[in-house]
Amino acid sequence: MMDDSMIDVLKKYGQEHLLRFFNEMNMRQKEKILSQLREVNWQDLDVLVHSYVLNMPETIIPPDIRPSPYFPSEPDSDDRKEFYRVALKRGTELLKKGKVAALTVAGGQGTRLGFDGPKGTFPTTPVKNKTLFQYFAEKLIRTGKKYDCPIHWFIMTSKTNDSQTREFFQKNNFFGMQASFVHFFAQGTMPAIGMDGKVLMETKESLCLSPNGHGGTLLALKLSGSLAQMRKLGIDHISYFQVDNPLVSVADPLFIGLHFVEKSEMSGRMLAKTGPFEKLGNFCLVNGKLNIIEYSDMPKNLAEMREADGRLRFISGSPAIHMISVDFVERLTEGGKLNMPWHRAEKKVPCIDEKGETVKPEKPNAVKLETFIFDALPLAAKSMILEAKREDEFSPVKNPDGVDSLVSCRAMMVDKDVRRLEKAGAKIPRKDNGEPDCLVELSPLVCLDDEDTAAYVASGKFKAPERGAKAYYD
Ligand code: UTP
Repeated sequence: MMDDSMIDVLKKYGQEHLLRFFNEMNMRQKEKILSQLREVNWQDLDVLVHSYVLNMPETIIPPDIRPSPYFPSEPDSDDRKEFYRVALKRGTELLKKGKVAALTVAGGQGTRLGFDGPKGTFPTTPVKNKTLFQYFAEKLIRTGKKYDCPIHWFIMTSKTNDSQTREFFQKNNFFGMQASFVHFFAQGTMPAIGMDGKVLMETKESLCLSPNGHGGTLLALKLSGSLAQMRKLGIDHISYFQVDNPLVSVADPLFIGLHFVEKSEMSGRMLAKTGPFEKLGNFCLVNGKLNIIEYSDMPKNLAEMREADGRLRFISGSPAIHMISVDFVERLTEGGKLNMPWHRAEKKVPCIDEKGETVKPEKPNAVKLETFIFDALPLAAKSMILEAKREDEFSPVKNPDGVDSLVSCRAMMVDKDVRRLEKAGAKIPRKDNGEPDCLVELSPLVCLDDEDTAAYVASGKFKAPERGAKAYYD
């Protein structure tokens, strides 16, 4: 049952401690650890151990970093207005023909939020407390109705939350979506590595494994067969967004259309950063190629540089909203392999010690390695960026309170729906300081966008909320 070649491999790379408890295990436990060990490419991992754990990787700052150009959210000339009109028409056509699928990355561990369960099952909306998954599902249902073509939704899970995520959808009847339009696929894992280069064990029969980062999406699409399925379904473009950003437009026709007419392989939305050190990736041109430089890798002098008018020179932050072409993913993952740069993070990872006793570390004891989706940008033959208005597109739920929290996200959801209603001519009570004096939530099933909201208010169904009231509109 014990595979001699596995012992040899582990010995070769100094990881034989992983079989320390093997002889005392029953068959099921032995099978479990062996199957985990077989999934790791030990040779590749050894290279990573040496370059990211035993030695610190050098951050090379390229000499030629410039701000990247982008399309403004509102057209700034007549020519551009016409160009956007054509792009919008194209985006609309692509949605009508079912050429676009939505893809949500939901494989993260959500450690900062500290919620026990997949983040998509976190109750979030301000009045109805809908979960993130329900909110997205309703946006997608309405998108399908609006363009007369139901939209396929691909959801990336991780090994840890895959079955819980699937069960959640089943239990909730897919929130009204057709089950055959919802596709789950699980991403790969990476072992957590102790500071001494040894892979950590979670229990005597399992390694400390965690999802390999949202960059894992591309290879997971290929290896799971989802990419082939997209092809079969006639899908050419992927609208990519994160599970913790309920504000996002799940399939924005202008963004889709610009991605298409620009012949972009991978596109991104940018938003103006709130300050030089906001924790967002920075869109930059590096040697003429579009890149995102992590906030932690951005040289301080560049981050703080300002234009003559006082605006940050590197103003473009990334909210992780992308359009990605299926052809591009196919090209990158040909042969079932994809090399993306790794990013290291030191984390506290509970594990067992050499006696098999549980250790709950008080300070970081391990390096976790992840790849990031945006590292695919420089691999694209062509790319494009469209500005997004933060208040309309981005409010992630990362923390229980404070910045990027449930509290800030709910406030922004109310603000967006109130602005939408007011734009449609509705009267909403506001406090002296200008904040809405009520909690308002629009169901995406009836008010997906400004056009829907205008029709809703015009239909007479809308009753203005009282001061201090909670109002849900569906
Ligand atoms: P974050 O980087 O914010 O990570 O993920 P997280 O796991 O949600 O939260 P923390 O850092 O542990 O608190 C951004 C998006 O990428 C997805 C997440 O689910 C989220 O939608 N993601 C992240 C994956 O799908 N897989 C990963 O391996 C990492």
